[in-house]
Formats: sequence, C-alpha cells, structure tokens
Amino acid sequence: MLTIPSTAAFTSLYSEYVNPQWVALLNLLDMNAQYERCLGTELFTVDGRRILDFLSGYCVHNAGHNHPYIIAALKNELDQLGPVMLQSHVSDLAGQLGKRLCDLAGGGLTKAFFCSSGSEGVEAAIKFARVTTGRIGLLCANNSFHGLTAGALSLMSDPFWRDGFGPLLQDSVAVPFGDLEALETQLRSKRFAAFIVEPVQSEAGIKIPPTGYLQAAESLCHRAGTLFVLDEVQTGMFRTGPFLAAHHYGVKPDIVVLAKALSGGLVPVGAALMTDAVYEGVYSSLRRAIVHTSTFSENSLSMRAGLATLDVLEMESLGHRATELGSQLRHRLQKELAPFEMVKQVRGLGMLSGIEFVSPAKLTLRIPFEVFMKIHPAMLGQVLVTRMFHDKGILTQICGNNFMVLKVAPPLVVSEAELNEFVGAARDVVELMHTSASFWTDAIGLAKRAVNI
Ligand SMILES: Cc1ncc(COP(=O)(O)O)c(C=O)c1O
Repeated sequence: MLTIPSTAAFTSLYSEYVNPQWVALLNLLDMNAQYERCLGTELFTVDGRRILDFLSGYCVHNAGHNHPYIIAALKNELDQLGPVMLQSHVSDLAGQLGKRLCDLAGGGLTKAFFCSSGSEGVEAAIKFARVTTGRIGLLCANNSFHGLTAGALSLMSDPFWRDGFGPLLQDSVAVPFGDLEALETQLRSKRFAAFIVEPVQSEAGIKIPPTGYLQAAESLCHRAGTLFVLDEVQTGMFRTGPFLAAHHYGVKPDIVVLAKALSGGLVPVGAALMTDAVYEGVYSSLRRAIVHTSTFSENSLSMRAGLATLDVLEMESLGHRATELGSQLRHRLQKELAPFEMVKQVRGLGMLSGIEFVSPAKLTLRIPFEVFMKIHPAMLGQVLVTRMFHDKGILTQICGNNFMVLKVAPPLVVSEAELNEFVGAARDVVELMHTSASFWTDAIGLAKRAVNI
C-alpha cells in the first residue's frame, strides 16, 4: 500500500537534506504552509485554507496556476513518445516557439536562444554582447535583479547578494536607474559591450523609468557601439500589458531576455531573443554552430509549454486584462490607502504594482516604528506580508532589493472580485498598522526573533 508521508515528514526531510535555513525562515514568519492544489489564482493547503496568490511566483504564473490547456498540451506531448531530449536533431517545436516569440517581440529581434532559467538567459546575453562587440565591460543599473549565477550576479549592485561570492566578472559598472548623464559618462569610454537593464525594475521596488529614459538610453548605447539589452524576465509575457514592457516605450533592444512566465509555470524555460547582427556575431560559422548551447535548451516539453502558454495568453487576451485591471487596481489602492501617512505611493504598469511605505511623522507612530527599525530595518514589509498571509489569506512579498515596497503581482487571470478582495485586505492591514498598538507589539516581537536573519 502506498503510504503518504505526513506534512511534518516532508518538512523534516527537506530540513535534513535540502535547506534547513529556508524552513526556519518560513517557520519564523509563520508562512510554512503545505499546499496541495493550486488553480488559477487560488492555492489550497492541506489544512483546508484557501490562499489568494498575489505574487505569482515572482511573475511566473501569468496564465494562472496549472492552466488546464497547458497541462493537456504537456500530457499530449509526453504521450507522443517523441524526441524530447536528443540534442542531435532539429527541433520543430523550438522553431515554432522561436518564430512566435520573435513575431510578438518585433523590433528586429529575429532569432531565439533557448535555455532553462532567467539567469541562464542573462548569461547568454553577456556572452553574446561580448563576442559581438569584442568588448568586455558591462553596464547595469543600481539595485537591479538579474539572477544569481556568477555572470548575472556581476550585474547586481546589492552587497546582500554578492558578499562572499567574488571576485565576479571584471569591469562591470552600475549606474543609477534613470540617470542618463551617468550612463553617457560611462558609455564615453567605449569599453562596454552592453547596457543590461530591466525596463521596469521589479525587485528594486517596481521602479518605472522616467519619461524618455529608455529611448535615450537606447540611442546613447547605439552611438557608443554598446548593445542595449532588456531583461524582461519579470516584465515580459504580457505582465505589463503588451507582450514586452519595451513596447510601452517603442525601444528596439539588441537582446531581450525572457523566462519565468514563458512556461506557464510548469517547466523551466528561458530565452534570449536577438537581432541578426547578434546571431551572426555568436554563431558566425559552421564550426561555431553550437558554440553556446545547453543540454535542456530545446527539450520538447519546455517548447510545448512555451507554445501552449502563448496560446493561453493570447486566447484569453491576458495582456489586455493586465492593462485594464492593473490600472483599475492601482486607482482603487491609491484611493483606499490615501488616508494613511505611511503609504508613500502606489505605482506600477499593467499587472505589476508596488505599494511603497515610508517612516511616519506622527509621534504616536514614530516611536514604535523607530524601535522596530532599530531592531531589524529589513522586516517592516515582511510584517505586512505575514499579516496579509495570516489575517487575510493573501500571498504577497516585499521586493528583494527594497524592503519598503510590497509587491502586487497576481496571475493575469485574476478576477475583479479577487482584486477587490486584495484592496480590502490591504486597506485593513495598513489601517491596523496606523491604529493598533498590538500591531507594533507583534511586529517588534517578530523583529526580535528575526535579528539573526
Ligand atoms: C528581472 C530578473 N532577471 C533575471 C532573473 C533570474 O531568473 P531565474 O531565477 O529564472 O534564474 C530574475 C529572477 O527573479 C529576475 O527577476
């Protein structure tokens, strides 16, 4: 008879053999739920809770969890018993997915390199830019998030991610996001292969580029012979409305990196889309036909997942939904949260939004706030996340490089009723933060327990 291990057994095996610190962190936050079924925007736990997902696995689940169409396509692909992983043939599915991605991206992007993660896509972009330009320098923006492999990490300025892992790639320089003068000054040296940037910085706190910034950055780069590379790992796949966030700004990048939502959240897939010039710079002769590749690159499950995900995103007009409902959501949040002095701004693009908090001015709030911040400044947003999870059954997170911004990124299939549920919940939790002494007692308790994190 098949015996199913208990939740406790799962957790203890994980602690023993995988990552006990992760278990300890989730336990500390009281967020160590055991999920048994995930559908659309809803997550169901073994103890009967229903959690609304407003994080989407950091922008993976644009099509919603376990979309039946994508699951059916994958099951059908398995039933074919075809060449899932040969690496010795031409993959028809990779051709189909490459065409659809390039057609949707437009702007001179004509070839796709496939991989299995966002970091791997960024690694490809680094190598492709270097070989195409013959330069080694890399420019990036402060506070960006590009992935945790050594090359991608070289493009991230936050010491939290870098400390102890160096030396990373040489000659990588970060400039402030939105600062054209700083960018131009660096570009003048003509030693940079690429400027790699997220069009909307997600983990930095949902930072929207200043008007004209990306367009000017593109032309400055091109004038300096530097490739303009967009990391659309979070913003692509209709998350901000159009297929790419680049389409809001009319820019034509030399390389675009996609991952996360490309597979419907079911199979790892990443892609670097590039221009002909970049392709020819990398794969410049027959001898170099496989000079950059990866074992699982074009496996047919990933390619099928990508194709089925595009079908769903297009058939259900999820980009249009992201535009319409995302802006409604921000308007409602702005209205409901306006009375609260610790809410600085609600901002975003499409269905990628952030709520930024600031320190309070009112003395009754400032005292507990300052006590809290002295104990553990990184935990304030986390307290809100924990409250949203516990009191309201909503999964969110703070931005990885900005602990004062709560990220709001539900699957694009989210309903208006669910958006209303989120707005009400956010309002209640923010109100509690402004009015309840016990909110701060609990928060300070949590910060004290977390001092070693
Ligand atoms: C903008 C961006 N680029 C790259 C990555 C790295 O992707 P992955 O975790 O799939 O390696 C991430 C991951 O969160 C990301 O947000």
